[in-house]
Amino acid sequence: MVNKVNWLHKDLISLEPLSREEIIFLLETAKSFEEVLERDVKKVPTLRGKSILTLFYEPSTRTRTSFEMAAKILSADTINISVSTSSVSKGETLLDTVRNLEAMSVDVIIIRHSFSGASEFVSKRVKASVINAGDGRHEHPTQALLDLLTIWEYKKTLTGLKVAIVGDILHSRVARSNLFALRKLDNEVRFVGPATLVPEDFKKLGAKIFYNLEEGLYDVDVVMALRIQKERIGDGFYPTEREYAKYFSINRETINFAKRDTIIMHPGPVNRGLEISSDVLEDKRCVVLNQVTKGVAVRMAVLYLLLSGGKVEN
Ligand code: CP
Repeated sequence: MVNKVNWLHKDLISLEPLSREEIIFLLETAKSFEEVLERDVKKVPTLRGKSILTLFYEPSTRTRTSFEMAAKILSADTINISVSTSSVSKGETLLDTVRNLEAMSVDVIIIRHSFSGASEFVSKRVKASVINAGDGRHEHPTQALLDLLTIWEYKKTLTGLKVAIVGDILHSRVARSNLFALRKLDNEVRFVGPATLVPEDFKKLGAKIFYNLEEGLYDVDVVMALRIQKERIGDGFYPTEREYAKYFSINRETINFAKRDTIIMHPGPVNRGLEISSDVLEDKRCVVLNQVTKGVAVRMAVLYLLLSGGKVEN
């Protein structure tokens, strides 16, 4: 049973300003959509006549595909803009690009951009709903929501858990969105990694900081490995990949530092053998592909709430 919340947001840019009740409402709504995904015919008319556009300035496999799938299951029309073959390559600005696309009467713009703040910048200048599909180091709200939905399924609770997020925290929008949401739901969040990649400043936002993997994983319910973001990382963050993996890789030995029934997560894409080993990805406690499945239901819920405020039966 979904507890009704009056959903008033035009956009989803960040989880930081959402209330605990709104986050739970989003997750409950996503849960109610999971049933649709199990049907033979995965189609409901909820968003018929709505146009949803994806505009990704950075590569994506999971986020873009699952948004498109979510929109199609809800009977919306979808348009995917390939930035490399669009007029962006002729120098058209972000603002001009979205204004021209909005002039074609799109209802939702889903944007991924390397600039932290890009989606908020757009949201303030267009009437369409804007969804942040990852902006620089800032946030990736739907990733954290699907992570929470996964944790809820496997841990049967959304609160009171110890969650260790391990790796490249500095460059991670996933870590920030998870920190905001997990703390709002009264979980302990640990950021674990080398000092160069785990800034102390995150203590002010409620994270516990660990520079030692064994200490950071002790007694945790959830281990979330993060990708080393080679495209954003310069020299000097760690001596070599081999050295990084020696001290911070989640592998068959180091996973034993956590609780026996811990779940193992990763937002993807994975650098096998660097932040996580192939054998751990095959471990029965690994829920990486379940996270991907939850992504469709979460994105259905976000599209549904932004476009209907929860006022249309799903
Ligand atoms: N987790 C995630 O955002 O994956 P993609 O980059 O493939 O969308």
